[in-house]
Amino acid sequence: MKALVLAGGAGTRLRPITHTSAKQLVPVANRPILFYGLDHLAAAGVTDVGIVVGETRAAIEQAVGDGSRWGITPTFIHQPEPLGLAHAVLTAAGFLGDDDFVLMLGDNLIERGVEDVLAAFERDRPAAQLLLKKVADPSRFGVAELGPDGGIVRLVEKPVDPPSDLALVGVYLFTPAILDAARRIEPSARGEYEITDAIQRLLDDGARVDASVLDGWWLDTGKKDDLLDANRIVLGTLRGQLDGSVDAGSLVTGDVRIEAGAEVVASTIRGPAVIGAGTRIVESFVGPFTSIAEDCVIERTEIEHSVVLPRCRIRDVGRLEGSLLGHDVTVERTARRPAAHRLLLGDHAEIQIAEG
Ligand code: TTP
Repeated sequence: MKALVLAGGAGTRLRPITHTSAKQLVPVANRPILFYGLDHLAAAGVTDVGIVVGETRAAIEQAVGDGSRWGITPTFIHQPEPLGLAHAVLTAAGFLGDDDFVLMLGDNLIERGVEDVLAAFERDRPAAQLLLKKVADPSRFGVAELGPDGGIVRLVEKPVDPPSDLALVGVYLFTPAILDAARRIEPSARGEYEITDAIQRLLDDGARVDASVLDGWWLDTGKKDDLLDANRIVLGTLRGQLDGSVDAGSLVTGDVRIEAGAEVVASTIRGPAVIGAGTRIVESFVGPFTSIAEDCVIERTEIEHSVVLPRCRIRDVGRLEGSLLGHDVTVERTARRPAAHRLLLGDHAEIQIAEG
């Protein structure tokens, strides 16, 4: 059993962050999203892991390295253009060979491991087995229609009239039959070779496609609010740990991880929250569900329910919430006249200025 993790793509929904970095490396609780999927693979004993990379290949390859952190052996496969999930699978055909494999989307997070579904798949060996999750708003997702025996009979992308409330989670188990099916599909209306079309092709061929309904949470981090939600949920599982320093004038409550070399001075941190290595928090409030990455400076500011990437500088800005800041961002108050907001924003940046 091999694994194929998709870490290419365009990431248009997470611009401007994805103009310069890979969305799979955006941190949730200060760890790249991609790493959580690799944790699950390693825990399930899958060590031969192909990772499909696109434009951001250098950063992904650097972050994963030789895989020894997980005990996996990564093989990086370059997809020259993000032409769809089925295209990504075909790009990896040489790596996959004749083996069964688990396909994982590198920007999705699941709570529970995949050991049980892998065991069921290896025992029953259907042509494919899909993980599904009951969702409140199936029209936003790929949705499965199940037959009386619990097998999948049909898949529909973003249906107006959903046949069930079971959405496709970004984890799939395949026999090599999927490669042949993927070779026989046409691009969809949005111009992508869709994995759902390839699976539908298997179904049309009369192949058996099983379903497993996931009971833990599943998060697709494609957009800012989804990412903040993922950060909130993952931080909810955090245990406090103090490796940095907190001065006598500060108060830390709840589960807070303060990483090595971080300094908290005259501030309140209310967990769950993570303060990255080398970050300084001075005369500030860091509220629940906030992850501050390494080497940031936060002074005289209140921030909560936010994700801040490395090396940001935030000074005297009142209160921030529901925010996602990229690498090396500066937000500060100035006494310069005329009193006005002065912005230097990348393409697709989004600013909301509070009233008053
Ligand atoms: P998506 O989130 O469906 O696509 P995307 O990354 O292009 O994002 P957006 O819709 O915001 O433009 O992709 C799911 C995962 O699969 C993600 O980790 C990126 C990866 N992927 C590839 O590796 N190759 C591809 O051709 C596509 C479309 C996605």
